[in-house]
Amino acid sequence: MTLLLDDITLTYPDGDGRLTALDRVSLSVPAGGLTAVVGPSGSGKSSLLAVAATLVTPDRGRVLVGGVAATGLSRADAAALRRAAIGIVFQQPNLLPSLTALEQLQVMAHLGGRRGRDVRGRAVELLDDVGLGAQAHRRPHQLSGGQRQRVNIARALMNDPKVLLVDEPTSALDHDRGAAILDLLSGLTRARGAATVLVTHDRAHLAVADRVVEMADGRLASADVGSIAD
Ligand SMILES: Nc1ncnc2c1ncn2[C@@H]1O[C@H](COP(=O)(O)OP(=O)(O)OP(=O)(O)O)[C@@H](O)[C@H]1O
Ligand SMILES: [Mg+2]
Repeated sequence: MTLLLDDITLTYPDGDGRLTALDRVSLSVPAGGLTAVVGPSGSGKSSLLAVAATLVTPDRGRVLVGGVAATGLSRADAAALRRAAIGIVFQQPNLLPSLTALEQLQVMAHLGGRRGRDVRGRAVELLDDVGLGAQAHRRPHQLSGGQRQRVNIARALMNDPKVLLVDEPTSALDHDRGAAILDLLSGLTRARGAATVLVTHDRAHLAVADRVVEMADGRLASADVGSIAD
């Protein structure tokens, strides 16, 4: 499923005026493609993902998910689209405090309308994939920051999303674990034909990207990996 952002402008209220977080941004992410987004803090990367996720309505421009206009959907229809087709990994893991790692994933499937024993099997498999097989029955407060981040990623993959939006997925992980997560995300992107957008500060991640774009002051420019400053 292709993800298309077409001429997106997003502003936020800022004192008496408005702050322009996204300034006429266009981006096309083909099915099976992984686009990395880099850029300084505050440049608009998370805002871009929030618009692509249909969580925030832009001032102007369109989001097309698999050719279907997602901007302009009712709240209920946008929520249904997210549950069915979009996997989101937020910068801050927002796990439910009372649920175990396994249950966080199962709830996701439940919201996506899936039931039954295959749901548990898939959840166990994904937790294994992110290296948390042994922690499946722990609640968030019993997990380290990096382990919570990995539950957050596994949960986003639970409903086999066709659009995968990932914000700094490895900021709390060591190099080897981060590389394993990146392999998992890029492998799933290709195997399932997902359109993936990955926000990252880690140059090592750029190797798995088909394309790297750079945000600066709410604007997007294509970038060569070699030209990006450390
Ligand atoms: N809800 C909000 N209300 C007002 N301003 C906001 C809001 N969210 C973000 N901003 C502002 O919009 C701009 C872009 O923020 P955004 O979170 O998209 O940046 P970012 O590139 O993800 O940064 P970081 O790398 O630090 O996560 C910043 O100037 C930020 O202060
Ligand atoms: Mg951000």
